Amino acid sequence: MGVEVTTKNLTKSFGSQNIWSDVSLTLPAGEVSVLLGPSGTGKSVFLKSLIGLLRPEEGEIIIDGTDILTCSSSELYEIRKMFGVLFQDGALFGSMNLYDNTAFPLREHTKKKESEIRQITMEKLEMVGLIGAEDKLPGEISGGMRKRAGLARALVMDPKIMLVDEPDSGLDPVRTTYTSQLLMDINAQIDCTTLIVSHNINIARTVPDNMGMLFLKHLVMFGPREVLLTSEEPVVKQFLSGSMIGPIGMSEEKDSSQMEAEAARVAAGHSDGGVDVPDEIAPQMQPTPGMPQRQGELRRKARVRQILPTLPHKAQIAIRRDLGDDPAEFATTAPAQVAAQAPEAAPVSIQKAYSGDDSPTGAYPTTQIDENPTDHLPKVDGR
Ligand SMILES: Nc1ncnc2c1ncn2[C@@H]1O[C@H](COP(=O)(O)OP(=O)(O)OP(=O)(O)O)[C@@H](O)[C@H]1O
Ligand SMILES: [Mg+2]
Repeated sequence: MGVEVTTKNLTKSFGSQNIWSDVSLTLPAGEVSVLLGPSGTGKSVFLKSLIGLLRPEEGEIIIDGTDILTCSSSELYEIRKMFGVLFQDGALFGSMNLYDNTAFPLREHTKKKESEIRQITMEKLEMVGLIGAEDKLPGEISGGMRKRAGLARALVMDPKIMLVDEPDSGLDPVRTTYTSQLLMDINAQIDCTTLIVSHNINIARTVPDNMGMLFLKHLVMFGPREVLLTSEEPVVKQFLSGSMIGPIGMSEEKDSSQMEAEAARVAAGHSDGGVDVPDEIAPQMQPTPGMPQRQGELRRKARVRQILPTLPHKAQIAIRRDLGDDPAEFATTAPAQVAAQAPEAAPVSIQKAYSGDDSPTGAYPTTQIDENPTDHLPKVDGR
């Protein structure tokens, strides 16, 4: 089973350039989470920080109970063995064929015999559908195959945590969906805590159990997928529709005059370029029939039911639909009544994303929702 990963008030800068501050979130064990954010918001930097390749200046990164920012280098070495990582560019060795690329971590980090290495390597190549291509060089195969080879290599050490940076980059939409299916199947088979970094809207809508979003150097939200997919928060809404209308601009942040000019253009009939977001959220992808049931999904169902009363009303409805509750029971329930049913000491509370001091200390602090996440953004129409 995967292990829980928690960051607390994490802050990372390069020299005078602050990348993000006060990032606090929990990736629940064995669940699939997606971290969204416009280009350049520091998603890859976050992923590299989790594995100890980059070192945030402040905060904690607790992996299976150990803070990797303060532990010894030998402890860090052991913790790193829990990770399988698919980097954004695949990071395959160009002069090695797919077999040797996949076998590389086993040869580097274990004392296994070649016969055992062969058995593991072929098993993982089969998992990602690359049997028959093991003699090919990375330069001789398609982008999708390179991604799968990178995944096979990430899998050979039986990771408890999978970090996947932009699984869709360079792939067409159909191959992206196949890759998403593969990630769900891998999660079902090895129950690894999975973090996918992406700005792909389809992946966001259909893959994760939990979602977070980085914007303007902060974690805007982190919580169950239903919370973000039904969110009215302008940054999240704009991102998930791909529209030009909203706080995100070409250079990440817009000023209010640009926002007003764009809103006026759209009001005059100019397309905002976004897609219509359906009222009901898309169902989450399931493992391919014949695969084991995702244990992470079972744990998640129990977890979200526990925190349900603490979530926004629209998210509650979406979750209860997904949990198979009788719609007659909740469709007409007013938000006030739902809130009144909340247990006095909910294990998770909706909390400020960037304050840090009032983080709940319960077992699953997995919903971080800032009450005023766009306070630091340019305002439009006096909002
Ligand atoms: N090693 C480094 N040294 C200095 N600056 C860096 C380093 N790595 C990343 N940065 C800077 O950190 C910022 C965030 O980069 P990052 O690659 O994490 O963005 P991202 O959200 O992954 O973007 P994309 O969606 O385009 O992949 C960028 O401004 C980048 O230039
Ligand atoms: Mg990146």
